[in-house]
Amino acid sequence: MKIDILTLFPEAFAPLKISILARAEESGLLEINLINIRDFSKDKHKKCDDYPFGGGAGMLMTVQPLFDAINSVYNKDAKIIFPSPIGKTFTAKKSEELSKYDHLIFVCGHYEGVDERIFELFDIEQISIGDYVLTGGELPSMVIIDSLARFVDGVISKESLESESFSNGLLEYPQYTRPQTFQGLSVPEVLVSGNHQEVEKWRKEQSLKRTKELRSDLLED
Ligand code: ADE
Repeated sequence: MKIDILTLFPEAFAPLKISILARAEESGLLEINLINIRDFSKDKHKKCDDYPFGGGAGMLMTVQPLFDAINSVYNKDAKIIFPSPIGKTFTAKKSEELSKYDHLIFVCGHYEGVDERIFELFDIEQISIGDYVLTGGELPSMVIIDSLARFVDGVISKESLESESFSNGLLEYPQYTRPQTFQGLSVPEVLVSGNHQEVEKWRKEQSLKRTKELRSDLLED
């Protein structure tokens, strides 16, 4: 999968260059390109923001650099995403859906927002990561990319995907590793019993118990 990220702050994306995502890039499963929107500004000072018509607080990103930056990577099969608090809230289901595309383009807004005409010039899906406001689209883009990359074939094992929270509508069960006893606390006996059926049963029960206690809303339907 190819992911183009258009941003005024490419240096913000260092977290995508470590650990699982770095390995996915090295092995060719993912290609993440950082494109600086400022490079496309036709303004003599490379300005990319301006005051909003009609007045109001803060600055808006101007449409010309955004338009040219998108066009520099666009093709008709690409899906364009603009993280924004006005979008539908991101979910595991959406994450998996996005992971099926061969080419994603993330456009990161900053300051008070972007000139609305960009949404008329391209088919862009706005996605929110929650009901709160961040200073820009960089962090939400990273959240969405980190999550969807896990669904790209080969990035992590199928087994990990199947057992984790939300994959079956429930929260993940508790897990333990060595040492078997720490500060007087022992891991649940069933996990060291060697009885796989009992382990599975215990995990299902724990998932359900946790979901009831912490996220009963997930059980409503
Ligand atoms: N940009 C600013 N706030 C955001 C949010 N909550 N979700 C996605 N993008 C945003």
